[in-house]
Amino acid sequence: MGVLKNGELWNDVSGAPLHAHGGYIIFYEGYYYWYGEDRRENFYVSCYRSRNLSDWEFRNHVLTTGSGMEEYRVRTKLRLQNEDGKKVNLERPKVLYNEKTKKFVMWMHFENGKDYHDAAVGIASCDAPDGDFTYHGHFNPYGYMSRDCTLFKDDDGAAYFISAARDNADLHVYRLTDDYMNVDALVHKLWQGEYREAPAVVKTNGKYYMLTSFCTGWAPNQGKYAVADSMEGKWSMLKEIGDGTTYLSQPAFILEVNGRILYFGDRWGGDGEKYFESGYVVYPLVEKEGGLSMEYVEEIEI
Ligand code: DGJ
Repeated sequence: MGVLKNGELWNDVSGAPLHAHGGYIIFYEGYYYWYGEDRRENFYVSCYRSRNLSDWEFRNHVLTTGSGMEEYRVRTKLRLQNEDGKKVNLERPKVLYNEKTKKFVMWMHFENGKDYHDAAVGIASCDAPDGDFTYHGHFNPYGYMSRDCTLFKDDDGAAYFISAARDNADLHVYRLTDDYMNVDALVHKLWQGEYREAPAVVKTNGKYYMLTSFCTGWAPNQGKYAVADSMEGKWSMLKEIGDGTTYLSQPAFILEVNGRILYFGDRWGGDGEKYFESGYVVYPLVEKEGGLSMEYVEEIEI
């Protein structure tokens, strides 16, 4: 048990800053694994693990400019550096464990490191949660743009990739193939023209909730959520949650732990060097009067 101060850049158990921004947590064999952006040196994605969600042990830089690469079917854009030899951008990495293939599969937003025009999704996989991931290239699902994104695994093992399309105007929901290595169907084009970013999904009490932000670069804005009876079913209109800045945060992911629904967000420092000052927040979400509300807390005990 530990107390996490909201808005701060938390440290791992060695006292070093925890670099896992725009991230995602999965539970596997007694540990929570936290994956996220690590923009230092030649790193892309780092992985930490914890038994209690507050004491985090650094495990590995699971994706770097030197990661192994392997083509996957027709996906051949295997680039972890651009033509100038500079880093590309890999943002919002999310990982799911596939029960059938026994692989950990990572999906993330890919850009070429110079501009945001590729608007693609990159995929990597590994046999262990914290091993060296193999990169499988990037692509545009069915030719669509794909920027801010998340993954969601349903109780029956069906998985979904949710990403901002059409220059962020629409939010697409794709059902994944059984091995989680590709899209199988585009099942929704949600909230046309509403420009939602940073999607995060949780299922609780039989309802599916999706939180998103508006598009204002690194600056926080009004969070909104919607609800559905199933991922492929009808989603509600967007409703506001939190205050006009989502209590100074942008969604990363949502975790249900011991009956509590915990919203994890980034409090971005900003562009350039300021990015490295980015901190984290955890706010409890509560189902109330048929909706969802976010509780503002300065710190949280997990
Ligand atoms: C908002 C996105 O949510 C972030 O992941 C990042 O892409 C910034 N925009 C870049 O401005």
